[in-house]
Amino acid sequence: MREIRFTSLVFLLGLVVAGCGERVEPPPPCEIGLVESIDVERVLDHLRVLSVDIGPRVASSPEEREAAEYIAGELERLGYEVEIQSFPRAGISARVEVLEPEGLRIYPAFGRVEGMSGADYPLFTPEGGVRGRIVDCGEGACPAEVEGQIALLTPGEASADERVLAAAEAGAAAAIVHGPTWRRFAASVEAPSIPFVTVNLDTGEAIREAGEVEVALHIIWNESSQNVIATRPLEGVEDAPIVIFTAHYDSVEQAPGASDNGSGTAGMLELARVLRDVPVGVELRFAAVGAEEVGLVGSRYYVRELPDEERSRIIANFNTDMIGTAGEDQVQLFVNTLDGDNLVAQSARAAREQLGYPEELLRAPYQRGASDHVPFHDAGIPAANFIWRDPETIALEPWYHHPYDTFDRVSSERLRTALRIVLGSAVQVICESPEEGAPSAN
Ligand code: BES
Ligand code: ZN
Repeated sequence: MREIRFTSLVFLLGLVVAGCGERVEPPPPCEIGLVESIDVERVLDHLRVLSVDIGPRVASSPEEREAAEYIAGELERLGYEVEIQSFPRAGISARVEVLEPEGLRIYPAFGRVEGMSGADYPLFTPEGGVRGRIVDCGEGACPAEVEGQIALLTPGEASADERVLAAAEAGAAAAIVHGPTWRRFAASVEAPSIPFVTVNLDTGEAIREAGEVEVALHIIWNESSQNVIATRPLEGVEDAPIVIFTAHYDSVEQAPGASDNGSGTAGMLELARVLRDVPVGVELRFAAVGAEEVGLVGSRYYVRELPDEERSRIIANFNTDMIGTAGEDQVQLFVNTLDGDNLVAQSARAAREQLGYPEELLRAPYQRGASDHVPFHDAGIPAANFIWRDPETIALEPWYHHPYDTFDRVSSERLRTALRIVLGSAVQVICESPEEGAPSAN
């Protein structure tokens, strides 16, 4: 008897808990007011993980992979169907794995090699990389102890070419050449005989200050990268129109890629959160694409691999790229398209007006490619890239593609404004119009 009573009590309690669970949150309606749900603190949390904890996310690097896993985990947690889509990538990558001391991070570029390409390049490192101690050669000749080790070179009077060749003659197994300033540094060397990479001045100085440094230097050809694709199908509708948000999450070498494009990626994750339960008239997709910085490789692969039937269902692509810069002159949000005034540009203007932003906040459309909206446009899909620029000179922030593209140079206000416009634009396209029961452009 006691036992039965106890069981029913547990059952009743279960009902109460389940009941509470169901009552918690009704899905928000699909309307412009959704922009109020954007939580910039969450965007900053994602951005911190991508640009501070993980750091530079060069195409095909372990850090790019780590970022993909983080993004996939976040989208899965939100309840989306998530796929990590791997793709091959032809290209050379350089990586310096720091074995000692702990905490020192070296993000190199691959120094360009004149007259050599692809599989002919003779300097690819063996499995495990070229391991050695870093020996500082400064601007002069390398000391004898460089034999079998890794030379750290400062190009002064002599060019990077001459320095690398001289280090090889002195017996160095590989070289790290640093540049003259904080800017990203990539030297071009003709016919080098040892593997070498380049870093900026700050990294060169950090290596010197660290004293005893041991590394494994890797130069690798032909690797893979990956896209992360999250989908929310429109329940019960097989042939629903698709709206796809994209953002590249890789960065160039030596740059933590906070603005380019941790900002767009983190922002897209927040849009996925805001939209996850909203009743929409379309299938929603969110694609974090890899290897953009080496030629839009991930987005091209994604679009190319889509079955024709799916590709033809895509009605719009919203690409967020550099949506949070704190650059003082980058005060206009550009909506870059390749086909003039398309559906996305029109919906961006409508959103700007509905949200009460001044006309000069937005330039839509502006003719420009150079990001992941290009492959969608090429497939005949209305696509646009959202990016902050200087309205006078069209310039991006001065630290674009440089080591100072860091978390502290991102503005939460710009992130919020850009995301409100992007979501407000998407609302024009994804919210089912009651009369026609179909998505509409206005
Ligand atoms: N986010 C940047 C820059 C960008 C995007 C500039 C959209 C203008 C419009 C992007 O990651 C980038 O650096 N693109 C490259 C070209 C790409 C094909 C390698 C560029 O503009 O140099
Ligand atoms: Zn870039």
